[in-house]
Amino acid sequence: MTKTTMKATAIAPANIAFIKYWGKQDEKLRLPLNASFSMNLSEAVTTTTVEFSKNLATDEISAVNEVFSEKEKQRMSKHLDVIRKKARVNLQAKVVTKNSFPKGTGAAASASGFAALTVAAVSASGLSLSEKELTILARIGSGSACRSIPDGFVLWERGTDSENSFAHSLYPPDYWDLRDVLVIVASDMKKVLSTEGMSRVQTSPFLQSRLHGLPSKIKRMLTIFTKKDFAALGNLIEEDSLNMHAVMMTQSPPIFYWNSATLEIMHAVYEWHAQGLPVYFTIDAGPNVHLICEAKDEQKVVEKVRQLGVVNEIVVNKPSKGAGLLNQHLF
Ligand code: DP6
Repeated sequence: MTKTTMKATAIAPANIAFIKYWGKQDEKLRLPLNASFSMNLSEAVTTTTVEFSKNLATDEISAVNEVFSEKEKQRMSKHLDVIRKKARVNLQAKVVTKNSFPKGTGAAASASGFAALTVAAVSASGLSLSEKELTILARIGSGSACRSIPDGFVLWERGTDSENSFAHSLYPPDYWDLRDVLVIVASDMKKVLSTEGMSRVQTSPFLQSRLHGLPSKIKRMLTIFTKKDFAALGNLIEEDSLNMHAVMMTQSPPIFYWNSATLEIMHAVYEWHAQGLPVYFTIDAGPNVHLICEAKDEQKVVEKVRQLGVVNEIVVNKPSKGAGLLNQHLF
């Protein structure tokens, strides 16, 4: 049976890494220097519709609630080329995308964006791929996007070539009722994008030290998950986030993603700890802070954060399933 339209819509969550990805073995294929582990986020999602059509002379890429730069559009077009080549499709595409979170909040839009684009474009092209193959394709668009395809808590294997660097689910979203209280702070800093920032990772004298400890961190993470030991989880999350930022700050030129609000929140977390509240922080390539706690402490954490004067917006995320297709299109 031939498909009458070449159109599909997908939704994908952003994810927060508990063990971070920072640095590549292969820039073009986006093969990472280390394995990473993450949780998909329920409230930070991207929806994308892709339609291949013979009526288009070029790709037409737009967003419902933001404006893409030419560079961003080119990167998405290049990703469509990879999928067109695989599917032997020669048509240009119309792409419309919508984020549940405002642009510039640093809520990992490239992970959810490239995961949704991959799943929608693959389906629209008529290809039928396994989840593993989808993660490999999404990884080529943006490394962390591969972790947004499978459900819940996801491990991205380091691998040594494109075929064995893929992501898979270790636990479904309902395995552990964790929360990511995403604290968005105001920022007028010029953002160094992850791709550009990590391209200079080899200049940090601390890179090798972080990489050396990585395999045992992954093992510790897996044991912690079997036992659901929250204090050990929180300590390991903070440790790896700080290790990654030490690498970032010691690259040449150095990158400081934290601002004064970020530091204020980090200090507050240590104080809340001392008062007996089990909450831990992790920070990606931006000033926002992800506060990880158990469901039972969500309200207390949100209240404490509100009392700080430095917060723009709070988004409470639960663990979520991965990317999937939707019946309703954006156009
Ligand atoms: C700090 O996946 O955005 O969020 O592969 O170049 O697109 P590219 O990088 P990207 O890097 C994410 C880095 C991070 C850590 C993480 O999510 O693991």
